Amino acid sequence: MKRIFNFSAGPCTLPQSALEQARDEMVDYHGQGMSLIEMSHRSKTYDQVHHDAMSLVKELLGLPDNYQVLLLGGGATLQFSMVPMNLLHGGKSCDFTLTGAWAKKALADTKKVGKVNVVFDGTESSFTTLPDPASLKASSDAAYLHLTSNETIGGVQWQDWPDVGVPLVADMSSDFLSRRLPVEKFGLIYAGAQKNVGPAGLAVVIIRDDILEACPSDLTNYLGYAGHAKADSMMNTPPVFTIYMMKLVLQRLLDAGGLDAATQLADKRSGLLYDAIESHGSFYRCPVDPSCRSKMNVVFRLPTEDLEKQFIAEALAQDMSGLKGHRSVGGCRASIYNAMPVEGAETLAKFMADFAKQNG
Ligand SMILES: Cc1ncc(COP(=O)(O)O)c(C=O)c1O
Repeated sequence: MKRIFNFSAGPCTLPQSALEQARDEMVDYHGQGMSLIEMSHRSKTYDQVHHDAMSLVKELLGLPDNYQVLLLGGGATLQFSMVPMNLLHGGKSCDFTLTGAWAKKALADTKKVGKVNVVFDGTESSFTTLPDPASLKASSDAAYLHLTSNETIGGVQWQDWPDVGVPLVADMSSDFLSRRLPVEKFGLIYAGAQKNVGPAGLAVVIIRDDILEACPSDLTNYLGYAGHAKADSMMNTPPVFTIYMMKLVLQRLLDAGGLDAATQLADKRSGLLYDAIESHGSFYRCPVDPSCRSKMNVVFRLPTEDLEKQFIAEALAQDMSGLKGHRSVGGCRASIYNAMPVEGAETLAKFMADFAKQNG
């Protein structure tokens, strides 16, 4: 068996020991004569896994009792619609920070549901900067301020959170559970699972009780948060395999020291790569302002597109995959989520130094 360093943006690398445990348990789960993904989601055995996965999110984030964790199908994309459908009522609008490709998608769906005020637009800087959180003010009729904590494509990441007097709503798909949060500032957090949490097929939604209680009751069943909360995220058949893997991944995160340890590792991995870029500054260029460079998705350019192609091909030949930038922006991108070993970042940083020396 061979494992390579996988720098894909998501789905992405997962802890090898979690994959191995899933392999070992796949055919006969804990002596039940069937796998977990074959048994009823109403069984006691699955129920335990389901609730363990939710409890791990609560424990890792230190969630206060007035927040609920929901596990919902449809990925983060469904949340682009569910958030405004549930939170924009009573003639309210919402404030939006347009910080990159993912915020743009969330904004487009939100506009179809209700009134939106764009309070920051990074288009002019090609989404290489973020607003100073202190400069943001809530609009008079805003129910919440939406932000994308980490733009997976553009490589910008919020370092600090605005204090605007209305709850923050955040798409944390690509940096969820990579750092501690002042949870009380957030009314709702959502994250697709396929980066730091597990395989694809799920969004984790964290919602504050007062916001949950105020959600309209006339939404169709699946689109309302209230029904999911009432049914403990088992209104319909949940994505059982993703939730099972999530439990295995999050248990390892907790055992390894939780979010403080995750932050230290993220600092280390991203530091290695940004140092490699800066110390060969005439060859590599990171377009993102240093104040908001992502610790999850490191984007960089080489002097020419031909050199970028050569870089990606030679890296692959040395067992480092997934380094191509998103097709909408080009260039290179190294996604270094929680499960990326520091050794992966060290190996890439060394390769970057060698490649710059040979081709610069
Ligand atoms: C920041 C961000 N938001 C939303 C999404 C969409 O997630 P999903 O594919 O789970 O709908 C992604 C996917 O990569 C993302 O990176």
